Amino acid sequence: MMNLAARMSPTRFGGHALFAAEAGRDLRTTGAIAPSSPRLARALTESIARSTDTALSILEVGAGTGALSRAIAARIGPEDTLTCVERNPRLAEYLRAEIGVDPALRAHAERIVICQADIADLPATEQYDVIVVGLPFANFTENETRAICATLDGVLKPGGRITYFSYLGGAAVDRFVGDRHRQHRRGSARALAEFRARFRQDRITVWTNFPPAYAWTLTKPGAAQPDQVDGAGSARTEPITA
Ligand SMILES: C[S@@+](CC[C@H](N)C(=O)[O-])C[C@H]1O[C@@H](n2cnc3c(N)ncnc32)[C@H](O)[C@@H]1O
Repeated sequence: MMNLAARMSPTRFGGHALFAAEAGRDLRTTGAIAPSSPRLARALTESIARSTDTALSILEVGAGTGALSRAIAARIGPEDTLTCVERNPRLAEYLRAEIGVDPALRAHAERIVICQADIADLPATEQYDVIVVGLPFANFTENETRAICATLDGVLKPGGRITYFSYLGGAAVDRFVGDRHRQHRRGSARALAEFRARFRQDRITVWTNFPPAYAWTLTKPGAAQPDQVDGAGSARTEPITA
């Protein structure tokens, strides 16, 4: 599997094949066997807000093969900037090449930066209006999740938004995994619930994803919200019971 992934190039293999190969190498950090669906990508990016006169600074974490990056690029304006952080060097390299190929990414190529890095190493010098997170939190330990949440909070402007997903069926998964993994999952869920409590929370369910997922939008208290791009997002929110 390792050699297969190493030999893959964007031209010979699609992003889905590369993603699946990387999941085979390390499912814990890759977090899924397929990239996010277009519907989940829309749900995670539709609350990107933009005022008419202010450029948005957007951070994407865990960009993978760019399923969410493309959806973000389709929504951003001519002054907005997008920084994509991806830890896996093969996925980061694929995404860099995609900027020259994919029409939505190419349209903003000069304002998109791909950083091959662990989000834990992100310097807190930049501040972002919107953070789109594609990380598999359920696979992380409680401490890892808390550290990532602290990093994200530290670089999010007051009034800014974080979106992320969590997969449905966690309770069913818990029945089949070992004690250690179950403890991790529960600890990570606890850390995320505490993190969410500091924000205004919106959530919608996306059934057309593998696996089905919740798309969360967290709004940081603070400055007034800029106008929404399309008025979507909170208006489509479900009651949150879990
Ligand atoms: C579930 S995939 C999501 C990929 C893509 N955003 C999507 O929605 O299809 C999670 C991605 O996060 C990356 N990742 C995991 N841990 C990371 C970390 N600590 N810092 C940066 N990226 C990370 C993985 O390499 C993988 O590409």
